[in-house]
Amino acid sequence: MAAVTELGYVGLQVKNLEAWETFAGAVLGLEVARDAEPGRRWLRMDYWHHRIALYAGDHDELCYIGLRVAGPDEFQEIQRQLSDAGVACRAGSREEALSRHVLELVRLEDPEGNPVEVFHGPEIQLGRPFYPGRPMHGRFKTGSGGLGHVMLRARDLAAAYRFYRRLGMRGGIEYRLDTGKRTIEPVFMHCNEREHSVAFGLGDPRYRISHLMVEADNFDDVWLTYELVLKHELEVVLPPGRHANDRMFSFYVRNPSGWLLEYGWGGAPAAAQSEYYTEDIYGHLKNIGGPRSSDDKS
Ligand SMILES: [Fe+2]
Repeated sequence: MAAVTELGYVGLQVKNLEAWETFAGAVLGLEVARDAEPGRRWLRMDYWHHRIALYAGDHDELCYIGLRVAGPDEFQEIQRQLSDAGVACRAGSREEALSRHVLELVRLEDPEGNPVEVFHGPEIQLGRPFYPGRPMHGRFKTGSGGLGHVMLRARDLAAAYRFYRRLGMRGGIEYRLDTGKRTIEPVFMHCNEREHSVAFGLGDPRYRISHLMVEADNFDDVWLTYELVLKHELEVVLPPGRHANDRMFSFYVRNPSGWLLEYGWGGAPAAAQSEYYTEDIYGHLKNIGGPRSSDDKS
């Protein structure tokens, strides 16, 4: 069975491109690149042409997530699997593949309607080393773990689980969180050594995406970024803390689109067998039953 191998890229429509440029470059340390298209910015984290594409638009929303497969054979095989399962896919045109800087892609939607692209062959620019938007102690941790993870909206968690299982991901419920009114059971899916690449069941339902996590390989970058967030007077929605499932030491800041960016360090792989937690290790407003925490945590 063919399986996706990483969360390779994401595309975001943003209302305030200028604010995003500052946020991405001066605060997070991503490299901001531009080309002839005035309403588009490429955010780089490593040797890839880009990991995040920003498109200026009239509202803030996730445009797509890009899940990678290893090569052309897996690309054909996964399309067969999806077709056999009755999942509608549309082959991306050559122009679409060129615009994503990949060899080939197909486009589909998850059961919630979140746009998903399965692709292979990203453009890797080995002659153009990553140049952070501001000094960093270390680098972003990408490699075979992909760019990070996303928490997506899914009102039917079982359907979301089935869909991402068809793409070869594994995972399941990793928290049982008592909010005082109900129990929330978010689902986390992985496809490589990153504990999860896609997750569902928490977050602000106004957006398809409730947070995007990027990970640094040096702990000091988390604290440096945290101080820059405070200096730029951005809203820290969850203060630093450590998650139980991926062991990530991280904090959450509201990005210029209104949903959240998680900046982390120290993530651990998925447990070999399923297990669940009722709270985080420390920090992050540890008790998820707190007044605003049920909306914003992962
Ligand atoms: Fe997260």
